[in-house]
Amino acid sequence: MNIAVVGTGYVGLVTGVTLSDIGHNVTCIDIDKEKVEIMKKGTSPLYEPGLSELMNKNIKQSRLFFTTNHAEGFANAEVIYIAVGTPENEDGSANLAYVEQVAKDIAQYVVQDLIVVTKSTVPVGTNHKIKTIITENLVNNIKFEVVSNPEFLKEGSAIKDSFEGDRIVIGADSSEASAIIEKINQPFGVPVFRTDVRSAEMIKYASNAFLATKISFINEISNICDRVEANVEDVAKGMGMDKRIGPDFLKAGLGYGGSCFPKDTKALIQIAGNVHYDFQLLKGVVNVNRKQQRMIIEKLLERMPDIKGKRIAVLGLSFKPNTDDMREAASIVVTNSLIDRGAEVIAYDPIAMNNAKKILAPEVEYSTSVKGAINESDAVLILTEWDEIKDIDLNFFSEMKYPLVVDGRNCFDLETMREHHIEYHSVGRPSIS
Ligand code: UGA
Repeated sequence: MNIAVVGTGYVGLVTGVTLSDIGHNVTCIDIDKEKVEIMKKGTSPLYEPGLSELMNKNIKQSRLFFTTNHAEGFANAEVIYIAVGTPENEDGSANLAYVEQVAKDIAQYVVQDLIVVTKSTVPVGTNHKIKTIITENLVNNIKFEVVSNPEFLKEGSAIKDSFEGDRIVIGADSSEASAIIEKINQPFGVPVFRTDVRSAEMIKYASNAFLATKISFINEISNICDRVEANVEDVAKGMGMDKRIGPDFLKAGLGYGGSCFPKDTKALIQIAGNVHYDFQLLKGVVNVNRKQQRMIIEKLLERMPDIKGKRIAVLGLSFKPNTDDMREAASIVVTNSLIDRGAEVIAYDPIAMNNAKKILAPEVEYSTSVKGAINESDAVLILTEWDEIKDIDLNFFSEMKYPLVVDGRNCFDLETMREHHIEYHSVGRPSIS
């Protein structure tokens, strides 16, 4: 089919590239000229394993195109995907300005019957609003349907998730429209769940809120484990063996970050509030997460109450491994707090340092290697579990004035740290001193 995808952030670009890879003709549209030029050359503007390779392949096979021009992108489109951002408003609600603008652009430029598919995460009722905006602004006399098809991919494994996802959710008012979107996705080989538009919109928020709840839950348990000298990893393993609980998303750490969970949990609290429902559980989840990002500082201060003038190495800056995304990363809160307390911060990340430099306080210094960051530092804080960090040569820690490591992601085995005589404090596990 001929498909247009509007918005080339994580969701839009991965959607466009993978749809072209399963054989569709896809034109990705973005208003950012510079970005479009980069993408035309087969380069992904964001770090996502495997994405550039797949872009190159499909550009060469003339199935994948990029443009800034809506009229050109929509000319043959039988289906248009909306994949623009829905950033957080100050009150936590989702900002729909970009989505609404795309609806107006569709109304202005489409020249044939089509299906509009919303990939962006939008509050319940938005797809019907999109339908109204298009109807009210339609220039040509065409027929269209609006379908909700929320995205469940994870940054860092987005390509794999597209081909091996657990489900594709299609919410539509008509079974004809659902059937067309199902057919488009058939080559992915992922199970399809069909429902109505509002339920599909809700599935996305409820899924992210539930995953965030699992994370905040295990983080609370880890804080109790710390105090009762239990090991949260064994607790999570033992819990996860119960199929009703499941082993995933029970990794205790510095809380969740990124572009989705923080934004979507707050948006769902707003959605509930708008219909006069106080979503107390989710408010708790958000508060626990806020506290958890600061936990590593508290652990450091327990051990080193005055960090003024101390050199603190911070390893891992992105919100999780395998991405250069710094949005809502724990490193923002942690480095700010260290600097406010007068510490010197020397940071390292395998991929995210360029993005980090735009976001972190200007006082933060950067090292080009893990070893360089650790050298001569007074303490090491680990914020992201990159493989490169998990695989550190533990002898590097002997380059420190005294080997003190506070690990917010449980990267190392306790026994190994003991054998290397490293003072080691991690999350919900006994300390090694
Ligand atoms: C998340 C969801 O997992 C996707 O299904 C969803 O499509 C996406 O949001 C979205 O709404 O677009 P993502 O934010 O890319 O994906 O990353 P996750 O792998 O889910 O991790 C989110 C955060 O939770 C990270 O900061 C990670 O470190 C943290 N996390 C995750 C934990 O602290 N513990 C865990 O057990 C799992």
